[in-house]
Amino acid sequence: AAHSELPSSVSPALKFQVLAQQGRARTALMTLPHCVVETPVFMPVGTKGTVKGLTTEQLQELDCHIILGNTYHLGNHPGHELVDSMGGLHGFINWPRGMLTDSGGFQMVSLLHLADITEAGVEFQSPVDGSRMLLTPEQSMEIQNGLGADIIMQLDDVVPAINVDAARFEEATYRTTRWLDRCIKAHARPTEQSLFPIVQGGFDVRLREVSMQQLVERGCPGYAIGGLAGGEGKDVFWRVVAQCAAGLPPGKPRYVMGIGHSLDIVVCSCLGADMYDSVYPTRTARFGVALVDSGVMKLKNRLYRDDTRPIDEDCGCMTCRLYSRAYLHGLVARGVPSAAVLVSYHNVAHTQSLTRRMRAAIKEGRLPEWVRAFVAGMFPRRD
Ligand code: GUN
Ligand code: ZN
Repeated sequence: AAHSELPSSVSPALKFQVLAQQGRARTALMTLPHCVVETPVFMPVGTKGTVKGLTTEQLQELDCHIILGNTYHLGNHPGHELVDSMGGLHGFINWPRGMLTDSGGFQMVSLLHLADITEAGVEFQSPVDGSRMLLTPEQSMEIQNGLGADIIMQLDDVVPAINVDAARFEEATYRTTRWLDRCIKAHARPTEQSLFPIVQGGFDVRLREVSMQQLVERGCPGYAIGGLAGGEGKDVFWRVVAQCAAGLPPGKPRYVMGIGHSLDIVVCSCLGADMYDSVYPTRTARFGVALVDSGVMKLKNRLYRDDTRPIDEDCGCMTCRLYSRAYLHGLVARGVPSAAVLVSYHNVAHTQSLTRRMRAAIKEGRLPEWVRAFVAGMFPRRD
C-alpha cells in the first residue's frame, strides 16, 4: 500500500509524532519531559495549583496525562520562590505527569477587567491589596521557568472579544510577536521546557495570517491559537481555528486555548487541532451539571429525584459505578460539597472518554462516521 510519511518533529523538550490522520484530523504521541501524551488531548485546568474538586491521584486514575497550571494565581500566592524550593509546581502539587502553565496576562485581562496593556507588559491592580503591578514578558518567563511545567506560554496581548476596534487588534497582533521575541530571549530553560507562541489577530483573516507567519518564522516546538472562547459565535470561532490549523506546521502540536465544550473539541479536532484546556467540565460540575454525549444533565432537576440509573450507563467511572442520579440529585439540591467532587470526577471522565474515542476513530479510519453519530446524538431530530 502507498505509505505517506506522517508528520513529526523533535525539539529538546518535546517530540511530536503523528500516528494516523484522517482528513485534517490526526492522532499523535507528544513526548514531554514528564510524560507521553496522546492527542487530541483535553487538559483540565488547575487554578491555584489544584483542579477544583479532584486530587492529583484521582486525575491519574482518570487517565489524565497533562494538566494546566496558572501563572497569575501562583505568581501571587504562595509565591513562586516557595514553589521553586519544593521542586517546582510538580513537587508542590504532587503531580508527576505533564503540565502546562499559561503566561498570566490573559487571566488578568479576562478575569480582573483591571488590566492596562502597554508595550512594557500587562499592568493590573492586585486583587489582594489594590497596588499596581506589572507583568512583563521577562517576568512571566521567570515565573514559568521557576514553576517548571513541560510547556510554557508566551505572554500575549489579548484583546477582549467585546472590543471591536480594528486598530487595537492590529496593535495586539504585532505586539504579541514582539513579546514572543522578549520571551524567547528571557527563557532560561529551553532544553527542559517548550515555549509555545500564541496566534492572535482577532477574527480578521489577514491579521491571523500575519500573526501565524511571524510566529512560524521563529520556529517554536508547538503553537497555540488564542483570542477565542470569548463569547463570539461558533461560526466565527470555528473559521479562525480552520484557518490557523491549516496554516500552522503539520508536524507540530496545535493548541486551541480555553476550549472545553464537547462539540468544540470534536469540531476543532476535525479541523486539525490537538490540544485543549478549559475549566468548563469542573466548573459546570460545581453547578450540578453533568456532561453526557447527548448534551448536559442538570442534576438539580426534580426529574432525577427517583432516578436509580447512573449519570451515564456507558460511562463506567467511579461516580457512575457507585452512585445514582437520585442520590446525586439529593446532594446537588442540598449543596453538599461532595456533589461537586463526584460530578467533577464524572465530567473529567467524560471528556477523557471523548478524546479517547476520537483517537481510536482516527486510528481506525472511521472518524466521519463517529462524528456523524456523535452530532446526531447531541442534536436528535424531532420529527
Ligand atoms: N486562554 C484562553 N485564551 C487565551 C489567550 O488568547 N491567551 C492566553 N494567554 N491564554 C488564553
Ligand atoms: Zn461517569
